[in-house]
Amino acid sequence: MDEKMVIEDAKRLLIQNRKTVGSWTFTVPSPHEYRHQWLWDSCFHAIALRHFDTAAAEKELLSLVASQHRNGMVPHESKYVLFGIKLPYTSRITQPPLIARAALDVYKKSRNKDFLRQIFPKLQLYHKWLEEEREIGNVLKVVDSNESGEDNSVIWDDEFTVPVHKTYLRWFTTYMPGFPQLAMIKSVKATAIYADALESMAGLARILGNKSLSSHYSEKHSKVVAAMKEAFKQKDRTYCSLTHNGKPIPYRTNSMFSPLFAAAITKKEAKSLVEGHLLNEREFWTPYPIPTVAISEKKFSAKGYWRGPMWINVNWIIYRGLLRYGFKDVAEQLLQKTIAAIKKSGFREYYNPLTGEGLGAKDFSWSALVMDMILQK
Ligand code: GLC
Repeated sequence: MDEKMVIEDAKRLLIQNRKTVGSWTFTVPSPHEYRHQWLWDSCFHAIALRHFDTAAAEKELLSLVASQHRNGMVPHESKYVLFGIKLPYTSRITQPPLIARAALDVYKKSRNKDFLRQIFPKLQLYHKWLEEEREIGNVLKVVDSNESGEDNSVIWDDEFTVPVHKTYLRWFTTYMPGFPQLAMIKSVKATAIYADALESMAGLARILGNKSLSSHYSEKHSKVVAAMKEAFKQKDRTYCSLTHNGKPIPYRTNSMFSPLFAAAITKKEAKSLVEGHLLNEREFWTPYPIPTVAISEKKFSAKGYWRGPMWINVNWIIYRGLLRYGFKDVAEQLLQKTIAAIKKSGFREYYNPLTGEGLGAKDFSWSALVMDMILQK
């Protein structure tokens, strides 16, 4: 299977998974299981769609922000339909803030300023909400495991939330108005994505000719990057998330590579992260990398939901980070191993990182991110 074929298959998948609800058109994560619109999924979809249909990529993001709450929050899940009618209800949490990054990437392909003029005010409102409701000491907190996007990750095991392994009970905190949200993680991964989003906001404001707003977001970006180093750096120079009372979460997970995505660490730190951990066969360099949790962890589970398997969106985030630091060879190896998993098992939700076996939902849209990995190199 060569790269051209993978791109064609990914295109077909994204076209097949498009859905229209009322006046909105977007891509469902999978036609078999997740039939609504999801926040970070749609950002990933738009980033892939922009390579062959910029209008569809723009529609995807405009549909996403159409579900924005009055206070600025963009919910992680929206567009529920009952008997063909769109319900006004959405979830009450958000997801990693990738929208500004996706909007900028789409613009880079379309050069359509009208789209930016439409979406930018909504992004400003979203960022204001993030600043007021999710920032804590200039880093980002996540108040629910579903909000982290890694619903059942080991990083939530010791957090104050409904009992571990009863994932579905956690859904009360996600969907039920008024149900107490008592969990809180200061997340290195969400903060890295946030820092990148602020840089993207500065870029978008610059393109729209608003210099003072652009400086505002650039300054904010610098503050977040500085706070990120301060808050998350450990004695061994790796980075990890913190519990609600500020203790480092000890498990080695894919989150440790997220500072690469935000270009937040020194070249030397990046080198030791990549050589010491990413390429370490006893930790993350498995036959089908990158496992969400290092295989050296007791909690590693090759098929456990977010507790070990490889996910293509995680690979995409790390791939971008590798390219930002010039690790071209490692990035290429990661891409080829990602293609090998797709070749073996198709576009699945996640994969066994030891065998490449496909797991979870079939025809999973964000696995089409492989197209962006190929086309951005
Ligand atoms: C699962 C994933 C989440 C994703 C959603 C839709 O809940 O954990 O990250 O957004 O499915 O694909």
